[in-house]
Amino acid sequence: MAIEVAPLPVPPTADAEKLKDFGREVKGVNPGTLSPEEFKEVHDLLYKYGALLFRDADLTPEQQYALTKAFDPSSESYGHGNNKTGGEKKSILHPDLKTIPRVPQVQLIGNGNVYNHEGLAEAMLKHPSHTTFHKTRVSPEDEAKGYTRFYRWHIDAALYDLSPPKVTTLYGVKVPQGQHQTVRYDDGTGDELEVPLGTTAFVDGRNMFNILPPELKSLAVRTKVKYAPHPYVWMAPAHALPTGLGIMTEGLELPYDELPPWEESKLKVLPMLWKNPVTGELHFQVHPCGASQLLIDPLPEGATRDGALFPDGAHLKDLKEVRELLYKMQRPAIAPKFVYPHDWKEKDLVLFHNRGVLHTVVGAFTQDQVRAFHQCNLAASDDPTGPTAEDVKKWA
Ligand SMILES: [Fe+2]
Repeated sequence: MAIEVAPLPVPPTADAEKLKDFGREVKGVNPGTLSPEEFKEVHDLLYKYGALLFRDADLTPEQQYALTKAFDPSSESYGHGNNKTGGEKKSILHPDLKTIPRVPQVQLIGNGNVYNHEGLAEAMLKHPSHTTFHKTRVSPEDEAKGYTRFYRWHIDAALYDLSPPKVTTLYGVKVPQGQHQTVRYDDGTGDELEVPLGTTAFVDGRNMFNILPPELKSLAVRTKVKYAPHPYVWMAPAHALPTGLGIMTEGLELPYDELPPWEESKLKVLPMLWKNPVTGELHFQVHPCGASQLLIDPLPEGATRDGALFPDGAHLKDLKEVRELLYKMQRPAIAPKFVYPHDWKEKDLVLFHNRGVLHTVVGAFTQDQVRAFHQCNLAASDDPTGPTAEDVKKWA
């Protein structure tokens, strides 16, 4: 049977034109047993559309690992390594993350108590909540009315030593149904977004770049982001902004000399824009929480200096300045009209281009709402590539 593709249902809150190239449902093939020809087609579709949905998929953890690995055959270990993000120091990542014993690259994530699951006798899962990560929280009264927030906009990546995974696969084994919730941005804009319970929200990194004004496009094409050592340990004492798009600058990050041992050569310095290996498009891919410095190249020869930001280049080390600039560049693209909130059904398999989209956990479950997902991503065999000299010439 030939592969068929159909657009994903765009919610009424979204600008259909801006999301027309984001996401496709793939039908007519079994994602667990793709032939090499079918895989090639799925591979290209993923890079073209950023996220692929297979409904009603039957997929073992072994098949999920094999499918994820097919996008980067020489990758092997989970995207965050062995889950030990550094000594005894506490990382904010996946405190309750459980590994499937037979296939340690596949993680069980979700909410509530799960028993006798793929070799795990008992797993107590906790859906991450903004109430433990953001500086401020939705009041319990408003939460009871269905208000919630984005948890943390991110790329799945260790951002230290390891390279960001190319693809993440998410498979919904148990999906509780419930009332829609309303995301409040709480940043003074009044923005709100109605979302299905426990949605995963996505934004397209291409939109994040394409909607920038020319001076910020010029800056983006010339900038590299330096991430903190062991970023998830570093940021653990700090609090996030109400949109989940970065950290408040209150000086709470762990000092570098109190972090687990780290080496300068293992720090990640990545372009702000990542080039799509299939379409050649540029995706704005920055994990705002882990960013610590910006390295800006001067304008290339012949570029106009009129209105240019940092025409002679710069090395920004002030955390507040770095974060404010990133927020200015990224916030427009998480506006409600750019967000695709996936409405999970049991046996949905979603593959997303982790180097082309940002995503976030959303919402809150009660303890008796049991949710079980299998998640897999693999530290990549290489780092993403940035803009070409031609791209710089075009946009700078
Ligand atoms: Fe994630």
